[in-house]
Amino acid sequence: MKATVLTASTLALIAGAALAEPKAEVLHWWTSGGEAKSVAVLQQEFADKGGVWTDMPVAGGGGDAAMTALRARVLSGNAPTAVQLKGPAIQEWYEEGVLADISDVAEAQGWADVLPASIAGHMKCEGTWCAAPVNVHRVDWIWANAEVLAANDIEMPTTWEEFNAAAEKLQAAGIIPLAHGGQAWQDATVFEAVALGILGADGFKKAFVDLDEATLTSPEMVQVFDQMRTLRGYVDPNFPGRDWNLATAMVMNGEAAFQIMGDWAKGEFLAAGKTPGEDFLCASVPGDGFLYNVDSFAMFDVSGDDAKAGQELLAELIVGPSFQKVFNLNKGSIPVRTDVSLEEFDMCAKLSSEDMTASADNGSLLPSYAHGMALRGAQSGAITDVVTQHFNSDMSSEDAVQALAAAVANSL
Ligand code: BGC
Repeated sequence: MKATVLTASTLALIAGAALAEPKAEVLHWWTSGGEAKSVAVLQQEFADKGGVWTDMPVAGGGGDAAMTALRARVLSGNAPTAVQLKGPAIQEWYEEGVLADISDVAEAQGWADVLPASIAGHMKCEGTWCAAPVNVHRVDWIWANAEVLAANDIEMPTTWEEFNAAAEKLQAAGIIPLAHGGQAWQDATVFEAVALGILGADGFKKAFVDLDEATLTSPEMVQVFDQMRTLRGYVDPNFPGRDWNLATAMVMNGEAAFQIMGDWAKGEFLAAGKTPGEDFLCASVPGDGFLYNVDSFAMFDVSGDDAKAGQELLAELIVGPSFQKVFNLNKGSIPVRTDVSLEEFDMCAKLSSEDMTASADNGSLLPSYAHGMALRGAQSGAITDVVTQHFNSDMSSEDAVQALAAAVANSL
């Protein structure tokens, strides 16, 4: 009799684990039109597999507000199940001892065989897999309203001189040359795109990966700040605080000609039914190189079979080929898996993929500092503070480079 009872309870336990209902509370900052459409793909796939998704969206481009919310949740001992997290922040949270190990899923799905090694490296913590990559966003893009450029007889600029000449012409015609939102992360996004063009790939790496003082204070870095000052003259007076997607909308409706922004901006154009090459144009910023920004999700160490089942299912779906294709068609990025066909992707995505391969081959594939891929939070924050301060004051470029070097030194 006793033996029967034991067997029954053991069976119940096993059945309980097997029947765990995958649940996930997911913290992310995908709240704009294009972003919401993209994350809905994951929510749908999760629900189709029996998952229960609790959404925790924290609005704020670039994710600063989301990261503040995350810190508060972890400190109060109530971490979300899955979190949009990227770059060295993944390893920073791992060092806090709060991340779950998702190596089982990664190994079962053979992630090592389908992800580029440089990207896989970002997903590893002391040899274990601690995050699931979603995509590759390129940061160094210029977007333009095709009709506005054509009407003003302007070609997509290929040098900063051409960009400035186009901007002067547009300004004279009463069009806002550059749609920009005055938020620190957007200033940083424009700054790093300008820096890549002016410093070149080697200079960019020395400045924003190696934090080399001589490069941070070099005459070329002075030129980068000079160009930022010039760009400041091309934005409209209402730029402070504006969200990035509203800046994209200004380009869409012809109020402004250009936006310098990562290809999540393309997600906005596409969500509004616009066609690349017809309604809007894309080109990499002047200069060589490719700044990558890989979105990924880390799973936090939470208890309960349902939560663990939710984390496994999410990790499996995120790197799965179907999600990689559909999500990235909406998001503006390209799949991180090397075996997903780009046949259905548009010309900007194809350009991104070609340039990424070429940059990987010639050593100019670089992590975005502005989107948390290159540096830890203290260092990237120190750089962005100076960039924003310069953009919003009359600080000289010479003073800016000195402030940059000092801020970086203080942050180490
Ligand atoms: C993220 C993108 C997001 C963008 C604007 C970037 O840091 O990588 O996924 O769309 O911020 O919020």
